Amino acid sequence: MTTNNQLIDVLDRKDARIGILGLGYVGLPLMLRYAEVGYPVLGFDIDLAKVDQLNAGQSYIEHISADSIQAARAKGFSATTDFSRARECDALILCVPTPLNKYREPDLSYVLDTTEAIVPHLRPGQIVSLESTTWPGTTDEELKPRLERSGLTIGQDLFLVFSPEREDPGNPNYSTRTIPKVLGGLTPACTRVGQALYGQVIDQVVTLSSTRAAEMTKLLENIHRAVNIGLVNELKIVCDRMDIDIHEVIRAAATKPFGFTPYYPGPGLGGHCIPIDPFYLTWKAREYGLSTRFIELAGEVNANMPQWVVSKVADALNDRGKALKGAKILVLGIAYKKNVDDRRESPSLELMELLQAKGAEISYSDPHVPRFLKMRRHDFDLESVPLTPETLAAADCVLLATDHDRFDYELIKRHAPLIVDTRGRYQEPAENIVQA
Ligand SMILES: NC(=O)c1ccc[n+]([C@@H]2O[C@H](COP(=O)([O-])OP(=O)(O)OC[C@H]3O[C@@H](n4cnc5c(N)ncnc54)[C@H](O)[C@@H]3O)[C@@H](O)[C@H]2O)c1
Repeated sequence: MTTNNQLIDVLDRKDARIGILGLGYVGLPLMLRYAEVGYPVLGFDIDLAKVDQLNAGQSYIEHISADSIQAARAKGFSATTDFSRARECDALILCVPTPLNKYREPDLSYVLDTTEAIVPHLRPGQIVSLESTTWPGTTDEELKPRLERSGLTIGQDLFLVFSPEREDPGNPNYSTRTIPKVLGGLTPACTRVGQALYGQVIDQVVTLSSTRAAEMTKLLENIHRAVNIGLVNELKIVCDRMDIDIHEVIRAAATKPFGFTPYYPGPGLGGHCIPIDPFYLTWKAREYGLSTRFIELAGEVNANMPQWVVSKVADALNDRGKALKGAKILVLGIAYKKNVDDRRESPSLELMELLQAKGAEISYSDPHVPRFLKMRRHDFDLESVPLTPETLAAADCVLLATDHDRFDYELIKRHAPLIVDTRGRYQEPAENIVQA
């Protein structure tokens, strides 16, 4: 039997050991799914604290329960920082971060470091799958030559695919199993092995002709969102000036049964994907002498939203005879989107910094983030304030930044002297509500 058929066979029988590298928001749910289906799974991370927590049956992500980690442990899952154990795995799935550096250029260091770490431990009959979002060409230009330093030939004794993660955090209607998975292999044999890798755990695997097409698919999905959110954010500012409620307009337009998809404006873009991924393409397109104007324009509009919201807060306070300087501002929601605990790139953080820089006194309430743990670029010595009639009444302005379902909106409306609503949560006009 050829190497690829042997590997497909062991994957089909669920005897293959699956290695997941990077046990974060993407890697951890994927690990759970493989364990659930009955594959032996070994998790790798450079963060020893995470590895220790997982081995102790604990979770560090709000929507992943400790029970689910323990169930995976009972089925043989364990985590390690020892990358030499990559040799034990038949599949190595990379789920590490792909951020931007301070020049807003792709930072592939996590992907490349992980790749370098596994190269000395590769053996014939393994598949490597990259799931991290990245620019088209990463898999063939960056991963392939590095992996081939092992002496193995890709497509013959080692298999390489790109298969981007798709997730809608906080959306209970989809799970790892039910979200179709796009996959492109470096060679046809790689694609076949890739299909066997995911076919048992994901209902639908959509195969493409190349790794580049798969990389571009993920970027198209995220660029599509970034551009459309930029569009409604721009229209929100126009509607505000014209005294039209943008949310009423979007609700009405969404009744059109074809040709319109609703996108919702907010205080700016957040999360690890939408504000970042489009610029992976911008960077790569420059190599081809091309500029990505839609991406840049949407980025500009979206990046200016926090500043616009701050100006609306200042105006609303001014109308009540108050200055931003010295005002007590209670920010509701610091996660980047509702019903999750993820603060990465959250516009709330920028709002808090801008308001603080103008002399406002900041507090926050977020049922998903009880304490502000230091981040790479943000730090506040704050704990979430409970929402009571007293805490609401004590604020000069309550700034609704992230509309978690767990907030009591009636209570807020009853007791806050001023609410600046960046999400269109309050549909009925009221004396104490300003849309922003
Ligand atoms: N979070 C999402 O909703 C989402 C959705 C789709 C795609 N993605 C993409 O998936 C990738 C991972 O994102 P995430 O949200 O899971 O990130 P994350 O920060 O939650 O997790 C990454 C994990 O990788 C670990 N890590 C860092 N360097 C490592 C290394 N060299 N070797 C092994 N582990 C290492 C980190 O300690 C962390 O635990 C990114 O490319 C992201 O754009 C994320």
